Amino acid sequence: MVSLIVNGARREIDAPTDEPLAYVLRNRLGLPGTKVACGLEQCGACLVTVDGECRYACTLPVGECADRSVTTVEGLGGDGLHPVQRALLDFNAAQCGYCLSGILVRAAALFDADPAPSPAQIREALAPQLCRCGAQPRVLRALETLARDAASQEGRP
Ligand code: FES
Ligand code: FES
Repeated sequence: MVSLIVNGARREIDAPTDEPLAYVLRNRLGLPGTKVACGLEQCGACLVTVDGECRYACTLPVGECADRSVTTVEGLGGDGLHPVQRALLDFNAAQCGYCLSGILVRAAALFDADPAPSPAQIREALAPQLCRCGAQPRVLRALETLARDAASQEGRP
């Protein structure tokens, strides 16, 4: 039995402690937003945060998350949408969408730390996130616009 907090709610899970977190989320907790693609920490599709730190759920044993706080794409915006989710929707920044959960988790962590990152910071943060459809240019445009709007609201140059 493993006890952890998922998207703000404590969950008790009857799973082997070495089961990857991504399978626990998808198959035991009914949270399919976390995707599994490579299973090798190479693509970022499975990204979640654990105590605010980005982690690859495809390889992370659930036992390592005991009593820690896990946030998946389903929990990003609380009751509404996180600003990065709204930005990608506004720019229609997706094709198949398989990569988007990880991209959104990574982008939300970046924008939660600083609502107005530079274009270089956005590109560097998203570099590990692969998209086979080629949606990256629209994703970057969406996030750069979000950051520019936040900077101008804060009176940054
Ligand atoms: S599925 Fe985890 S990094 Fe690709
Ligand atoms: S939109 Fe298809 S993999 Fe990114």
